[in-house]
Amino acid sequence: MLKEKAEKILLSGGEILDLQNGKRTKADILVHDGVIAKIGAVDRKGFDGIVHDISGNIVVPGLFDMHVHLREPGREDKETIASGSAAAMAGGFTAVACMPNTSPAIDKQEVVRFIKKKAEAELVDVYPVAAITKGRRGKEITEMAELVRSGAVAFYDDGSPVVDVSVMRNALEYASMFDAPIIDHCEEPDLARGGHINEGVMSTRLGIQGIPNAAESIQIARDIQLARLTGSRVHIAHLSTKEGVDLVRRAKEEGLDVTCEVTPHHLLFTDADLTTFDTNLKMNPPLRTAHDVAALEQGVKDGVIDVFASDHAPHTIEDKDVEFDAAPFGVIGLETMLGVILQQVVNRGVLPLHADLAKMCVAPRTLLNLPVPEIKEGEAANLTIVNPEATYLYDVNQSKSKSRNAPYHGMELPGKVYGVLNKGFIWTS
Ligand code: DOR
Repeated sequence: MLKEKAEKILLSGGEILDLQNGKRTKADILVHDGVIAKIGAVDRKGFDGIVHDISGNIVVPGLFDMHVHLREPGREDKETIASGSAAAMAGGFTAVACMPNTSPAIDKQEVVRFIKKKAEAELVDVYPVAAITKGRRGKEITEMAELVRSGAVAFYDDGSPVVDVSVMRNALEYASMFDAPIIDHCEEPDLARGGHINEGVMSTRLGIQGIPNAAESIQIARDIQLARLTGSRVHIAHLSTKEGVDLVRRAKEEGLDVTCEVTPHHLLFTDADLTTFDTNLKMNPPLRTAHDVAALEQGVKDGVIDVFASDHAPHTIEDKDVEFDAAPFGVIGLETMLGVILQQVVNRGVLPLHADLAKMCVAPRTLLNLPVPEIKEGEAANLTIVNPEATYLYDVNQSKSKSRNAPYHGMELPGKVYGVLNKGFIWTS
């Protein structure tokens, strides 16, 4: 594992994959001081830099995970900007959007600036998502203009829905002045209260209080109505239910500016996997039924779902190694997202590789008004190098994250990451 300056680097023998159309072009890529100096056949004779033989790998613009909990400031025992960035690189990502449920919350310019400053030294671009309301308490809207000016790319009261409908309406209207998306954690709190898993056969069988699908869909339906009323953009985080997919599909058909994301865990697992009471399968929203997973898959196939995002949510062993009901919600997923998504989406024929990767590269950046890196001479080298077919055994004990709460330990996953380049650095696995 090595992160070094990308002074003179030759990436030899890889294939550049065009995420728009799936076209593959075999070409060497010469990088000088972090900039793509040449694409094409490069003579190795006389080359005095470092040569990476990347045959068998594809090269794509650096991948982006728009739902990551870096836990800094406040819970540096769970994750830091540095450890989360290391996990991102290992997972093939050159950029993340970090969530505001830190302590203090990302609800002031100073916190945005603190994160941006700390992230400067990292290869990974870190884009803070600021809270919609002060302290994420759902009452008073944050100083959105200042937060955008200091670098916030979106607004989200992560982990908490904005319950007050007039607060949400105002937030949508203010945020639209800066074209910043409002992201919502769609969960009707009265319906969800006290629940730990999906409400259904499994919650009855296991004797654990459930969270019904309607807790999600009621809030999504409300947000869609507000998007219609305000003409603003709303992005639904971690969609988990069939009803949610149906609602977003109809909103899109109507031409509303509604987007959504799905996590790898909601595509891979169902509540039937909970018989072991593994707290590493406890997250919010909870794992749903096979019926919901099929609807999510259909949503991916027909474009209702815009983005794959990990909801990487680190928690300590002490926090997670408790009774199911007492454990916090959340699983880590930065290092395994690419593999799980390749397995569930590409290998199962839901989407071709380029369209699949576009949802972890082009779509999140477009949604957050960020430029999509280009693989072109003269452009900064912001690249992910991966062999999508090669498999590896995921060992959580080797994780770069500070936390170990992954449900993927011991799984064989496709998508072996060779390395990433960004900000003048190269990191190789
Ligand atoms: O599972 C989750 N964990 N869902 C959330 O919405 C919050 C997150 C966390 O911060 O741990």
